Amino acid sequence: MEPMTTTTRLLPPLRIGPLEVDTPVVLAPMAGVTNAAFRRLCREHGGGLYVAEMVTSRALVERTPESLRIIAHDPDETPRSVQVYGVDPATIAAAVRMIAEEDRADHIDMNFGCPVPKVTRRGGGAVLPWKRDLFKEIVRAAVREASKFDIPVTVKMRKGVDDDHLTYLDAGRTAEKEGAAAVALHARTAAEYYSGNADWEAIARLKETVKSVPVLGNGDIWQAEDAVRMVEQTGCDGVVVGRGCMGRPWLFADLQAAFEGREDRVRPGLRMVADTIYRHGELMVAHFDDDEDKGMRELRKHMSWYLKGYPVGGEVRRSLGLISTLAELREILDTLDLEAGYPGEEAEGPRGRQGSPRVPSCPEGWLDTQDITPDLEKRLREAELSVSGG
Ligand SMILES: Cc1cc2nc3c(=O)[nH]c(=O)nc-3n(C[C@H](O)[C@H](O)[C@H](O)COP(=O)(O)O)c2cc1C
Repeated sequence: MEPMTTTTRLLPPLRIGPLEVDTPVVLAPMAGVTNAAFRRLCREHGGGLYVAEMVTSRALVERTPESLRIIAHDPDETPRSVQVYGVDPATIAAAVRMIAEEDRADHIDMNFGCPVPKVTRRGGGAVLPWKRDLFKEIVRAAVREASKFDIPVTVKMRKGVDDDHLTYLDAGRTAEKEGAAAVALHARTAAEYYSGNADWEAIARLKETVKSVPVLGNGDIWQAEDAVRMVEQTGCDGVVVGRGCMGRPWLFADLQAAFEGREDRVRPGLRMVADTIYRHGELMVAHFDDDEDKGMRELRKHMSWYLKGYPVGGEVRRSLGLISTLAELREILDTLDLEAGYPGEEAEGPRGRQGSPRVPSCPEGWLDTQDITPDLEKRLREAELSVSGG
């Protein structure tokens, strides 16, 4: 029995189909970041739903080794959550069937939020919901296959292509009707990319529109207090946290505390940060089948996030950005001033992708009509991406 608590929970547990997530917090799928190694670090700090990097339906169907690595989970990871991307309902159905029949996940999220040109140029990610029927068919196909195994399917989307082509309310209604177990909104358009501020007002609008399944808010949660504000301002049922936790897996402890009405926060000194970096390194190497070089290459990008605000000189930072073995990593970390305390605000705030607004590249004529022609459908199928991880 759990001891009775006297604190007030901000929200009830998040219900996603048959799954119940005590802390209504989701680790946003992030290609190149949220692999099993990083998810383990995050999970150790707090409750929530931890989503893997996106995988393309085609790569899955082709069983590429990288796609199978992306959807692999540690044996103790539960629920096992994956995110699938695709533009062709038949390929999506095949990928979802494969995941379900082979018992490879407990939750499947669908990517309708990716704004990168490589993806939108093929009609995928954030520009796909503009084609209403195609969006409907994809969600329907995924839900049909997953529901045979009682696996919930959720939809993650942006507001639309740009301010003149907003899709999120329509898409939210469709997803709900087609059986999605939750909808998440990154409250930016594809054109905004990662610039400016997320429009939390849109999350509130979506919450008013989608009534029967949870609505999750996403965008610009840098600290636990932002998550509380988002819930209070929008009425959302849970939050999705991306960049804010990069280099700060302990943010999930803060989020759990905040959702449980507690004020304690993790404020690590440099020793804890260094220990976490090293552990992350070890987990990375294991994740890439003991390929130390690959593990270290993948770890390098995390360094500037981990060290943000800490007193570490430029030269040491640069050398950490070049490490190729765990021994080298240990050696450099040992030279840090491990007694240095938490630097405060400088360690917090925005990190990772920012980017400036841009005109999204779409397939030719994409925005002319919301309908889809057989010819376009054929072209999309042929353009289905086979690379994984965004
Ligand atoms: C490096 C990186 C990779 C991302 N990869 C994905 C992805 O694979 N699938 C997806 O739906 N969103 C992806 N996103 C978007 C995030 O899931 C999230 O929606 C976005 O970063 C906004 O949330 P935030 O402000 O908390 O970062 C990615 C974002 C970043 C920064």
